[in-house]
Formats: sequence, C-alpha cells, structure tokens
Amino acid sequence: MAAIRLIISFTAGRNFSQNDDCGRFPGGTDAEFTMGMKKFYITTAIDYANGKPHLGHAYEKVLTDVIARSRRMMGEDVHFLTGLDEHGQKVQQAAEKRGIEPIGLCDEAAVDFRGLCRDLEISNDDFIRTTEERHKNVVRGILQKLHDEGRIYRAEYTGYYSARIEQFLRERDMVDGEWPAEYGEVVEITESNYFFKLSQYQEWLIGFLNDHPDFIFPRFRRNQVLEFLREPLNDLCVSRPVERLSWGIPLPFDENYVTYVWFDALVNYISAVGYGEERFEDCWPADFHVIGKDILVPPHSVYWPIMLKAAGIPLPKSLLVHGWWLKSGRKMAKSTGNVVDPLDLIGQFGPDAFRYFVTREMNVGQDSNFSIELFLSRYNSDLANDLGNLVSRTLNMIGRYCDGSVPAASIEEEPEKELRALWEATKRSSAELYAEMQFHTALEKTFTFVRAINRYAEIRAPWKLSKSGEAEDRKRLETALATMAEGVRLSVALLKPVMPGTAQRVYALLGLEEVREWEKDLAWSPVLSGRNVSAPEILFPRPKSAE
Ligand code: MSP
Repeated sequence: MAAIRLIISFTAGRNFSQNDDCGRFPGGTDAEFTMGMKKFYITTAIDYANGKPHLGHAYEKVLTDVIARSRRMMGEDVHFLTGLDEHGQKVQQAAEKRGIEPIGLCDEAAVDFRGLCRDLEISNDDFIRTTEERHKNVVRGILQKLHDEGRIYRAEYTGYYSARIEQFLRERDMVDGEWPAEYGEVVEITESNYFFKLSQYQEWLIGFLNDHPDFIFPRFRRNQVLEFLREPLNDLCVSRPVERLSWGIPLPFDENYVTYVWFDALVNYISAVGYGEERFEDCWPADFHVIGKDILVPPHSVYWPIMLKAAGIPLPKSLLVHGWWLKSGRKMAKSTGNVVDPLDLIGQFGPDAFRYFVTREMNVGQDSNFSIELFLSRYNSDLANDLGNLVSRTLNMIGRYCDGSVPAASIEEEPEKELRALWEATKRSSAELYAEMQFHTALEKTFTFVRAINRYAEIRAPWKLSKSGEAEDRKRLETALATMAEGVRLSVALLKPVMPGTAQRVYALLGLEEVREWEKDLAWSPVLSGRNVSAPEILFPRPKSAE
C-alpha cells in the first residue's frame, strides 16, 4: 500500500539525534510521519495477576493512555496494548493459599484489571492474558526455534534460588554476607535446567546501547544498564521443573519443565500483535514499551533485546521508563502494605480528576510522592476553581446576556490580543512538551491559560458592560463572551488526552460534538458563534469532607 505522507504542525515526530540529558524526550513540532503503513504501537507492562490494582498500575496505564490518545489526536493510527501476567510461582502460591485453581485466581484478576482500565477510561485496543492460546503458541514457537538453533541448552546447575523473585542469585547479590530481605528465603539447589545463551550477546548489547542512546528514555537510565553489563552476564535459566512449579507454559521440547515467567511474559508484546502472521508488520517494532524503573534491568533492557536479537526479530524503538509513586518516601507496593486504591479516588472524584492529578504531579522518569492533601489541593484549585468555575461562569453569562447563544466577537483590543497571543504560545509549547514527554509542564501551561481566561473575564467584566447602554460596550460584552467561550473550547480540546470525559462534556455543553484532531481543533476560530449552549453543570463538585 502506498504510504500517505503527512506533515502536521502538532505532531510528536522524533529525531533520534537530538536527545539531551535533561530528561526530555527528543521531539519536533514539524516532523514528518508516515501514515497508512505502520501503526503507532505502544504497550504497558503486564501486571501480576496475584495482586489488586494499585496506584502504580493505574498511573502506568494513564501515562500510556495519554500518549496513545495524544497520538490519535495527531492523526496517527494507534495500537495500544495492556494485559495481565498470569503464570509463575507467585500466582501458584496465591491460588494455593486460597484453595482455588490458579486460573480461577487469574480470571478474578482479569476482571479487576479490566475494570480498572474501564473505570479510568483507558483506550487500550487489546488486553492480553498470558494464559491465552495466542500467547502460549508464540512462546512455544520461540523456545523451539531457539532450542533448534542451539541457543537454548540443558545443563546441571547449582545455585542460590529465591522463590520470592523466582530467580537464581549470584553470591555478589549478598550484602555483608547476608541475602537482602527483598529475596525472601534463599536456598541452595542443584537442578538440571535449560539455559538461554544470554552471555553470547553481551558485547552486541553493549554496542547496541552505545549506538542507540535514545533506546531508553530518560537517557540517564541507560547508564544503569551499562553498569549492569560491566560484569559478565550469566546465561538465563528459562525452565522450572514441574515438580517445583507447574503453573506455566510447558517447554515444547521437554514437558517436565515450564517456562520461566519473565521469558513467557515479555513475549506478550509480540504475541498480541500476531507474531508469525502478516499483520505483525502493521505494529512491530513497538514504538514504546512503557515500564516502571524496577523492571528495566535486567528484564526489559537485557533479556528482551537479546531474546529478540537471537530470534531474528527487530528490537522495539524505545523503552519509556517511569518512576515510582511513593507514599511517605517508600515505594507503594503490595508487600509494604502502603498502597493507595485508585478505585477509591476514581469513585469519589471521577476518572478525569485522577488522570489529571497523576499526570500533573509526575515528571515522567522521576519518582513522586502521593498524598491525599496534594490530591485535594489540585482538585480544588485547578479543577474546581480554575477550570470548573470558568466553564460555569462562561455558560451562565452567555445564558443571561445573550439568550444562550454564543455571540460573535466583533472587536479586538488589548485584552483580546493578549489572550490570543498566550493561546498561540501555549499551543506551540504544548506540542513540544507532548513530544518530549513533559506532560506535567504541558498541563501547567494549559492551566496558566485557563487562569488567564479567568483574568480576562475580570478585566472585561461583562456584568458591568451589561449595564451600559452604549453600543460599543455591547460589542465589548459580546466579544468578551465569545472570547471566553473560545478559550474554554481550546483549553478542553488541548486537555483531551488527559481528561477525555471532561473534554467531551464541555464540548457538548458548548453545542459541539467531539474533539477529533488537534490540527483543526486547536485553531482559534469562530466555530462557536451562533451556537446554543446548555445551562452550566458542576464539573468538579466540592468534596464533602477532607478525606
Ligand atoms: N508482571 C511484571 C511485568 C511484566 S512486563 C512483560 C510486573 N508486574 S507488576 O504488577 O509488579 O508491575 C506492573 C507495572 O507497574 C510495572 O511497570 C511496575 O514498575 C509498575 N509499578 C508497580 N508499582 C509501582 C509504583 N509504586 N509506582 C509506579 N509504578 C510502579 O512487574
């Protein structure tokens, strides 16, 4: 199929030679991209099926969704994958503890995690479970291929094994002669197992990372991987004997073993998009694997590239590594018991408030602290006060002074010129900031614009103009309301990837259908003139109590 070449001004095209070390993703605002050939393919990590969704999971999905939705607004054909990691010891043990079959536990988790996606308005195109046949077939196929080609071999191995992380450890993982608590109980075992020749690719991987400084974003994380690669790599044990672990994908060449869970899980990124079929080319290579910093080294930055290289499959374009949500300075995790249930917040404040908060507070790549006080302060000041009030006063005044129909702007004086110039600057910088993954700053700038519209309203004071009988003042009044309405429309159009429900609701209140394409919808225009608006609704109701 012939590629349709498209150039748009609000696009996230990337130039891989421009990355800097300040934590921004290299971006451009006038880049070209090709449509009609490959989809923009983005994935999240797949969550472990043995726990409940928490803020960390929810954040990763929102972050990925913001990117996916913004790419769609830029006209790209997006494929967004998320899912569930269902095999392994932890799932087997959790199921045993509850006296149910592992698949029963996974089915429950699938309901929870799919529910999280629904409640957060995540626009994923697919949700993969590693217990599905489409996935297991690909894992078996790759294992067989690597085995046939001599890249997987059998050997006797004696080593220290941690059941908690399901991995053999090295002596150098000890600290002061002790195994750190994070490994749980560590026992020395001798086992015959299957090994994947990871070590054979060490030099290649170092060369690849050196040649592709933008493979990992933010850049500083690449150093962590190179540091890890300073020591010789051990081959990767890809099997677990069934007597120790039965909940996994049997090795195609030896049914006495199941597949090591990371080898199984990583393959989801290709099994979900039809590896081995023609349609695979529509998506692969992935544009971004979005992951947390804890699963960069070694799974995503060492195992995965080497697995792909060994199997003759192109590497993904980049790994987008976000930081952690902390609570009182500690990682939020099931094991520390300090988790925030995102569903509580979503239930009380709605998905958009949650999505706004996590995107506004997290500088992608860094860690961020969660506190309910911070959440409430953002909710009250940015959403209820600045945005919510702006929408409501704009609609109110159009109702009161113009019979509910948006008037036409007929004059342009200093206040209008200033606001419009600020919009053009906001739009320009947002394009750059989105391309560079600086979503928190993009939101900050959008809300600076929202506040500027509120200030503009104070300066024009339509309530005073309405009392004057002068024709010029009537023009000013109508211009003010038209300008405020247009400012509201543009703000929510820009906020759509982060607050899709709010954008939709405000568009409907303004008598419009939906925000579709930024190229068109972010242009200052008289599109609202003559439209009938609805009576205001409270977009962000004040919370009843401080908790
Ligand atoms: N199952 C593996 C991933 C396999 S990907 C082929 C896993 N699952 S997880 O449930 O533990 O984590 C899923 C994602 O959530 C990871 O990217 C992880 O970094 C992220 N988060 C888990 N806790 C987090 C925070 N407290 N903060 C932000 N994200 C963190 O790892």
